[in-house]
Amino acid sequence: MKILVTGGLGFIGSHTVVELQQEGFDVVIIDNLSKSTIDVLDKIASISNRKPDYHHIDLRDKIAVKTFFSSNAIDGVIHFAASKAVGESVQMPLEYYENNISSLVYVLQEMSANNVSNFIFSSSCTVYGQADELPITENAPIKPAESPYGNTKQIGEEIIKDGTKISDLKAIALRYFNPIGAHESAKIGELPIGVPQNLIPFVTQTAAGIREVLSIFGNDYPTPDGTAVRDYIHVVDLAKAHIVALKRLLTKQNKASFEVFNLGTGKGNSVLEVIQTFEKVSGKNLNYKFVDRRAGDITSAYADTTIANKELGWKAELSLEDALLSAWKWQLTLK
Ligand code: UD1
Repeated sequence: MKILVTGGLGFIGSHTVVELQQEGFDVVIIDNLSKSTIDVLDKIASISNRKPDYHHIDLRDKIAVKTFFSSNAIDGVIHFAASKAVGESVQMPLEYYENNISSLVYVLQEMSANNVSNFIFSSSCTVYGQADELPITENAPIKPAESPYGNTKQIGEEIIKDGTKISDLKAIALRYFNPIGAHESAKIGELPIGVPQNLIPFVTQTAAGIREVLSIFGNDYPTPDGTAVRDYIHVVDLAKAHIVALKRLLTKQNKASFEVFNLGTGKGNSVLEVIQTFEKVSGKNLNYKFVDRRAGDITSAYADTTIANKELGWKAELSLEDALLSAWKWQLTLK
């Protein structure tokens, strides 16, 4: 079976490619290298002993997407390729809509034209906004998006759902909570460009001396220690969930043509808990200070994973300690 992974050289994509290969799938990657580097391809090969097929294609290029699909026999698509920086999306909304939406539409059109029916979509818990009830189930209402990035995930899900109504398309949207960590080999991991916006790369860069001090955004949230709470999931657990979801479609176990699953651990941790855990596993003291809340941040989000556990037979196995230690080992390779 040959699986197309778009964005397969990115953070979650590269880990998913490795898991796919370990499950015996042939993988073909499309990546435009906008937020990744080509050496990730060799790193993947050095973990799995198999170099995936790779095409340098920008999915906004409709003709290139058409040509790719007409010359490659594909059994399923895992679609990661998208821009994901919340703040940037506020500054460049139209670029975000063009990149995240037009590429999705072109891929779906060519899947339909070439009778490829199995599709896994990278969605986000951002679609829930600040949910009224915790933990968050898949049935929690979708809140108005806080950013163009978040809107592209909501619109993306709608586009896919509509697509499944008029064709053989079968799709699963996976709503990620906060993916962190790195492969145990420390050969692949998260590669933020410039100053990291997300917590864990900022933590590891601060511990490595690249950043002077970590700013904790807000200590007056209504949480036990005043800092915001998230559900941090190890990227390898997340990657494995994609293989399970893909197999569900390939073996026709899906119960509807469009399904949605939360991918989280089910456990919430505060920023301070993350820092304490990082200090414990790394043996480093972290320099941090409290600053004002970050605009657009919510208080608390963690997943109800009951449906993913039951339907996918999947649950996160790795701990916050595992994830933070792997992120630290990865950081040490970058210094
Ligand atoms: C962010 C996005 C989310 C996206 C996800 C993955 C926002 C509002 N949400 O989630 O849509 O899907 O990234 O890319 O940006 N923090 C600090 N100091 C820092 C960085 C973060 O205190 O330097 C705190 C944040 O306030 C938050 C927590 O750490 O409470 C996690 O932040 P982050 O890693 O950016 O993820 P989210 O904001 O949850």
